[in-house]
Amino acid sequence: MQNLCINIPNREYEIKIEKGILKNSGKFIKELTKPCKVAIVTDSNVAPLYSQALISSLEESGFSSVLITVPPGEGSKSLKTLSTLYDKMLDFGITRSDLIIALGGGIVGDLTGFCAATLLRGVPFVQIPTTLLAQIDSSVGGKVAVNLPHGKNLVGTFYQPKLVLIDPLCLDTLSDEIFSDGMAEAIKYGVILDEKLFEKIEATPSRATISKIIDDVIYRCCELKKMVVEEDELDTGRRMILNFGHTFGHAIEKKYNFSGYSHGQAVAAGMVMAVQYGEHAGITPLGTSSRIKALVESFGLPSDAKIDKSSLLDAVKVDKKGEGNLVTLVLPEKIGKAVLKPTEKEKVWIW
Ligand code: GLY
Repeated sequence: MQNLCINIPNREYEIKIEKGILKNSGKFIKELTKPCKVAIVTDSNVAPLYSQALISSLEESGFSSVLITVPPGEGSKSLKTLSTLYDKMLDFGITRSDLIIALGGGIVGDLTGFCAATLLRGVPFVQIPTTLLAQIDSSVGGKVAVNLPHGKNLVGTFYQPKLVLIDPLCLDTLSDEIFSDGMAEAIKYGVILDEKLFEKIEATPSRATISKIIDDVIYRCCELKKMVVEEDELDTGRRMILNFGHTFGHAIEKKYNFSGYSHGQAVAAGMVMAVQYGEHAGITPLGTSSRIKALVESFGLPSDAKIDKSSLLDAVKVDKKGEGNLVTLVLPEKIGKAVLKPTEKEKVWIW
């Protein structure tokens, strides 16, 4: 088993990575808390695959549980679904000494984490991410949120889990498309923080080849995220580099009503746009965007998206990295090193 500890004062927690850990999760959760009520939130894709293994393991360790299943997809990251979760958890009689578990991808993790942060002013929660994207990014670092019609993640907070259990075997049941969504985030870590990781992915440019080293890729991405989150938990400085590709990516997701492009696909195209911007601004060496474009395409991810200037500027206006008429773009100076560049919102359009 590979272990990492996120050291945020008073909110330390472990990330445990091991093939098959899901079926032993009760044992690790018991190390956190005495037997109590556990509300498990998942979606209807994940429920038939993994909920029974989790429930059985919790029962063996003395926990009683309820399974709450939401529809799959971004539509569930809403105030309406959140309200349903509150009701179901209160019907179950959950208290602040009980536990909530998010079992699923980033949507389930963000929604469930926000529910846990706000219900009864905070119920402890555990992340059991089942997609690559959630395993290497969204389950770590405590960002939890739901969407509003105005844009993504506009109601949220920082609420760290008590434990993250990562079972790489869960990746076996992902479609190629969902697997590749996670690869967009792995490539992101390489571009902004770790040239060696980027080169490792370039050397294994398909699902079949990278799957042989996926445990190490997950570990390295979580390690990079740990370093950033420990330095800037609340996303006021350094952590913003993790949003590389996301300003443009969120604009793409919004333009296509959160259904034309998945998050990973939008981030992939958004990263290429950001790097083209960096090349145009003289910050990123010419040729970098072609290298990133080739890598995202090798995983079947899009490297561009049809988006018009007004849609981009509308999305930039509600970007959380904005201040007044400025938005902070994340631009690579080279593969493995990115900088934050406050930029006039009106000037982000170069196409
Ligand atoms: N996914 C970006 C962050 O956690 O800051």
